[in-house]
Amino acid sequence: MLATLETDPIFKADVLAGLAASPPAIPARWLYDQRGSELFEQITVLPEYYPTRTETALLRAIAPELARWIEPGRAVVEWGAGAQTKTPILLNAIMPAAYVPVDISGGMLRDEATALSRKLSVPVLPIEGDFTRPITLPEQVQGQAKLGFFPGSTIGNFVPASATDLLRLFRQDLGTGALLLIGFDRVKDQARLVTAYDDAQGVTAAFNLNLLERINRELEGDIPVDKFRHQARWNSLLNRIEMHLVAREPVSFTVLGQHFRLDAGQSIHTENSHKYTPESAGLLLSAGGWTPRTWWTDPAGDFMLFLAEAEAERFAP
Ligand code: AVJ
Repeated sequence: MLATLETDPIFKADVLAGLAASPPAIPARWLYDQRGSELFEQITVLPEYYPTRTETALLRAIAPELARWIEPGRAVVEWGAGAQTKTPILLNAIMPAAYVPVDISGGMLRDEATALSRKLSVPVLPIEGDFTRPITLPEQVQGQAKLGFFPGSTIGNFVPASATDLLRLFRQDLGTGALLLIGFDRVKDQARLVTAYDDAQGVTAAFNLNLLERINRELEGDIPVDKFRHQARWNSLLNRIEMHLVAREPVSFTVLGQHFRLDAGQSIHTENSHKYTPESAGLLLSAGGWTPRTWWTDPAGDFMLFLAEAEAERFAP
């Protein structure tokens, strides 16, 4: 089967280990295959899902201020170049020297790079790669001042220990003196949070359940998808939304010849989305080696953007 030839060995390892773990859990990155990415694009325009439109409006509102904080001539490095509405707002605001999107899917990246360089008068220098690994910046930008851009509250997908590691890696990628503009979704009313991850149209449910379809497609699975239901849970101790796939009844299935069984009510944990306060976001950034300089929020206080700086290491007060 063609699908078997294309199987990513890390996907296979993560799924087999994740289904065998207790409680079962599969890393969120595997939600984003072709179909998953399409469904995520649909999520971003749902009435219940406020983060994308809120962050986009916030960026527009603070554009003049960004121009004051960020001097012209910085190379902008964006980790995980997704849908390109936010990036032009930033690039148009600050007069950058270059734009360097870092993404795993090279093809899409190059198409978007060409489209972007036509729209903006800035060199676009894409890097194909996994942003959780160190990157080598293009030679053209190595001598330039840097601005990292990590929007979308993607940092929320990482548990705080991994988020700290990732921020330290970003610091390593960009070097001392770099700035970072990063989006955080804020802690808010629990009902609104749960609804944002369990919409009325069932798009988020389809996005989550697609992981099981993907396992069936790519890993010779026979998971009875209709015996699982999507669930969004607020974890108040860890300040995060968790997505789960809950077994409606006892289920048995195989993946690549290995047998798995879940009791009724048992779940596979598929994603975390951590929410922050201004204080907890500032502390996370500091722990990751980035000194907060300022931050902004929308009028409703739903989302925030932090600007931080990679200061030289200083141990003394
Ligand atoms: C892309 C990780 C920011 O956590 O809000 C949206 C992913 N999952 N709805 C988020 C997501 C379900 C999203 N991030």
